Parts: sequence; C-alpha cells; structure tokens
Amino acid sequence: MLTSFGAVKISEHVHWVGAVDWEIRDFHGYATDRGTTYNAYLVLADKITLIDTVKAPFRDEFLARIASVVDPSDISIIVSNHAEMDHSGCLPDVVDLSKPDQIFASKMGAKALQSHFHGRFDVTPVEDGGTLSLGNVDLQFLETRMLHWPDSMFTYLAADEVLFSQDAFGMHLASTERFDDGIDESVLYEEAAKYYANILMPYSPMVTKLLARVKELDLPFALVAPDHGPIWRSRFGMVAEDYAKWAEQKPTLKAVVVYDTMWGSTGRMARAIADGLAVGGARPSLIPLQGSNRSDVAAELLEAGALLVGTPTINNNMFPSLGDVFLYLRGLRPRNLIGAAFGSYGWSGEGVSQANAILKEMKVELVSDGFSVQFVPDEKDLAECRTLGQRVAERLVEMVDD
Ligand code: FEO
Repeated sequence: MLTSFGAVKISEHVHWVGAVDWEIRDFHGYATDRGTTYNAYLVLADKITLIDTVKAPFRDEFLARIASVVDPSDISIIVSNHAEMDHSGCLPDVVDLSKPDQIFASKMGAKALQSHFHGRFDVTPVEDGGTLSLGNVDLQFLETRMLHWPDSMFTYLAADEVLFSQDAFGMHLASTERFDDGIDESVLYEEAAKYYANILMPYSPMVTKLLARVKELDLPFALVAPDHGPIWRSRFGMVAEDYAKWAEQKPTLKAVVVYDTMWGSTGRMARAIADGLAVGGARPSLIPLQGSNRSDVAAELLEAGALLVGTPTINNNMFPSLGDVFLYLRGLRPRNLIGAAFGSYGWSGEGVSQANAILKEMKVELVSDGFSVQFVPDEKDLAECRTLGQRVAERLVEMVDD
C-alpha cells in the first residue's frame, strides 16, 4: 500500500479520496493539456459511504487515500453517480476490499455497471428524488440523464450542503489545489468552457432544464463536488451562470476559421477571409489544424456565431484533418451558427463541396455556396475572400443585433 497519498477533508463529514493524473494529454480524443483529476469522496457517516471511484491505473493512490482515514473494509455503502470507466474503474477493487452492504446507482447506472462488470456485484437502483439514510446523515439522489450519459446522477448530502455532481461542472485540470479559490479565475473559465464544449454541448437543452430544476429545488450548496477538477467553494455561482449562457448557444460576433493547407494557398485564403471578417465587424479566430486538436476547435466554437472551413482537396476528398474535425463537431451538435467553406485545389476540387455538404448537415446557415480557387489565389481571388469574410461578418452583426 502506498502511504504517500492522503485524503483531504473538504467538509464536516466528507474527505476527497481521488487521484491526480498529471500526465494524461489525450482523454478519449480530448486534448487535456493540463492533465486531470478523478475525484472520489468518502462520507464518514455512521454507515461509511464512498461516492464514485477512480480510473483503474490509479488504484494504489486511491486506496492509499481511503486508508489514510478509514480501513477500506469499513466502507458499508458505495454510490456510483456515473458508470464511465474513469469513475468506475476501481469499483471491483474497492468492492473486493470492503465487501459493502450495498452499492447504489441510478436505474440506468445499475444496467450500465452490469454491462461493464457482468454480475461481479449487485447494484441497487435508486429513484430520482429518493433518499438514503446513512444513520446520522441522509443522501438524496437526483437523476441527470444524458448529462452526459444515460446513467448520470447527482447525490446531495444535506448535512454538509454538498452536491456531488459527477462530470457536470467539472474540468480537466491537474492540481494540488482541491478548491476553485486556489486556482486562477481565467484558468477555471478556460477549462470549464473547454469541458462544456467537448462533453456537454450536445446535451445543452438538458442543461437548461437541469439548471431550472436545481433552482426550483432551492438547495443550499456550500460545496459542489464534481468528478474532475477543483471543488466549487467560492465561485459556483459563476460557473452556474456560465453553464446557462453556454447552454443557450447564442451567436456572438466571433467567427472561427478552421483550416488546413497543403502548399499555403488555403492558408492565404483563410487570412484574407479573416481580414474581411474584421473589416465587417466580426472577431475572427483562426485555427490552423497543423498543431491544433479537434477539442480546441470545439472549445473555440462554444462562444462563436460563425464557422468557416478551409480545406484543400487531396485524392478527390477534403483534407483528412478536416474530416476528423467535422466528424467530431457533428457529434457535438453546435447550434445557431452561420458559415461557409473555401479552399484551394489542383484538378477536381471536391473538398469544398464536401465541406459545404457537412456544414449543411450540421444545420449551419450557409452564407455562400463555397469558394474554390485552383492552385494559388491571385489578388482577385484574395479580394473575393475578403468579400466573403465581410458578408459573413455583416450577417453576424444582423443576427447579434436581433
Ligand atoms: Fe468523467 Fe463521463 O466520465
């Protein structure tokens, strides 16, 4: 047993017993430039209760943190708020060690855990709004289906006013700080926004409903304890307001120009379009895909009003890096965007028409049918690019003023 990892007391009855992953840089395709944490929580009630576990490779760190406050065999109850393997990976280990009286999850969570672990242990489903007595304190459960999995739920410990919110309100950020007030506000904003864009954006209508429900329940929150990143102690109001804003996906004057380039021509077109966007009153943000990750494009798009895509044509297709980004963005279902496709080609030029078709499929309002240039753009072509940028900007200004 590793002894160098200790638990961190976060409220009267609760200790953080998670793990810090300083090294991860690719979280199922999401670029985690600042690493992450897998948060798990131990409630020291009459019936000692563990809320969530950590990713399997962090077993020793996690068990050491538990053992720093209790004998793992004293755990009576385990609650699984979310079955994804970064939170259930150590469930079999902790079940073997503690032999808990019961394991609880949402109805969909019980099914998901069965599909992950194939009957290695029984899981008792809980009702939405149901409560569980731990002797001296109670837990309350709140289903949060599709935020971001069908099984997702929140658990609330009224005695300490702690909401365990699984992935919601989380972020990928490795740190020795356990609370939001130990971290620079701009980092909190950047990482919470990136997390929202990449994990929660497709479920934005559910986020709006959840925020309304939480408001209606009128529960006091001293702490909101997610499964990744810092625990909200001082700035939960800030992130709750940000979630409400991000869920609306109201267009802004920001125009994301994402492109790749083979011999520099599509890049020149992108820069000319950016000039036109700025002249027309938009705020261009250029993302060259050489060196950028799909998850950075998603993060940029969260507070944008336009998506412009530049692709060369290679072997009768759009550039593979654009294919990757489109596949990813289509799944995230961004809304309320306008846009256009552009690019240089050599012989056949299918790239731009393919990009146009995908933008249409994503319900992006197209400002142009696509602008293609053979080989190298001349001054006239670049002037047309500027005009395209200006047209997009003018439409954005109209939309934002509406
Ligand atoms: Fe952090 Fe959906 O798992």
